[in-house]
Amino acid sequence: MLAGVSRWLAKNGGPVSVLSRGADAFCAGHAPLHALGCDYREPVARWQQLERARQRHGPFDLVVAWIHMSTPDFLFELARTLADQGNQPRLFHLVGSGFSHPDRRRPSRYDRLIDSPHIRYRRIRLGFVPHPSGVQGESRWLSHAEICAGVECAIVTDAADHTIGILRPWNLRPASD
Ligand SMILES: NC(=O)c1ccc[n+]([C@@H]2O[C@H](COP(=O)([O-])OP(=O)(O)OC[C@H]3O[C@@H](n4cnc5c(N)ncnc54)[C@H](OP(=O)(O)O)[C@@H]3O)[C@@H](O)[C@H]2O)c1
Repeated sequence: MLAGVSRWLAKNGGPVSVLSRGADAFCAGHAPLHALGCDYREPVARWQQLERARQRHGPFDLVVAWIHMSTPDFLFELARTLADQGNQPRLFHLVGSGFSHPDRRRPSRYDRLIDSPHIRYRRIRLGFVPHPSGVQGESRWLSHAEICAGVECAIVTDAADHTIGILRPWNLRPASD
C-alpha cells in the first residue's frame, strides 16, 4: 500500500529503510531504499533491524508506520526508540477508518503520544470515497495511489491529524475493509 510513498521519499531525500517481510525483494536494486526484512510480530527481529538501520544511516528523522492493530506494542516501541534519539523525529501513524468510528467513546491508547515532547506524533486517518450520487452502498475504499498521495500531502504539510478521503457521514462507509 505504501510502496509509492517509499519510492517518493527515496527520490526526495533518502536513505529510506523499509521494514516488511518482503522488503528484500522490494528494495533490491533500488538504492537508496534499504531493506529491513523481518516479521514485526517478532520483537527481537524488529529491534535488530531498527538498530541495524540506525547504525548504517544514523538516527531516523521521519517514520511512516502502518502496523496492524494486532501488534500495538510495536508502535510504542518505535516511539520510545525515536524519543531516545533526542532529535524529535516525526512519526506519521496511519490508522484505518474503524479508528474514527463515531460511537467511539474511549480515547485511543495512542493519544498519549500526541503530547510527547520527544517525538512529533502525526496521525493519518484512512477514509473512503463517496459516490457522486451520494447513494449508500456506492462508495468505495481508497486506492493505494490515493493513499500514497494523501500520505505525501500529510508529510509536506506536516499535518498533526490528516484524513485521506472522508469519514463522515459514516453511513456512507463501504460495507467492509
Ligand atoms: N479506509 C481504510 O480503512 C482502508 C483504506 C484502504 C486500505 N485499507 C486496508 O489497508 C490494507 C492495505 O494493506 P496492504 O494490502 O498493503 O497489506 P498489509 O497486509 O496491511 O501490509 C501492509 C504492509 O505491511 C507489511 N506487513 C504486514 N504484516 C507484516 C508483518 N507481520 N511484519 C512485517 N511487515 C508486515 C506488508 O509487507 P510484507 O507482506 O512484505 O510483510 C506491507 O508492506 C488492506 O487490508 C485494506 O483493506 C483500509
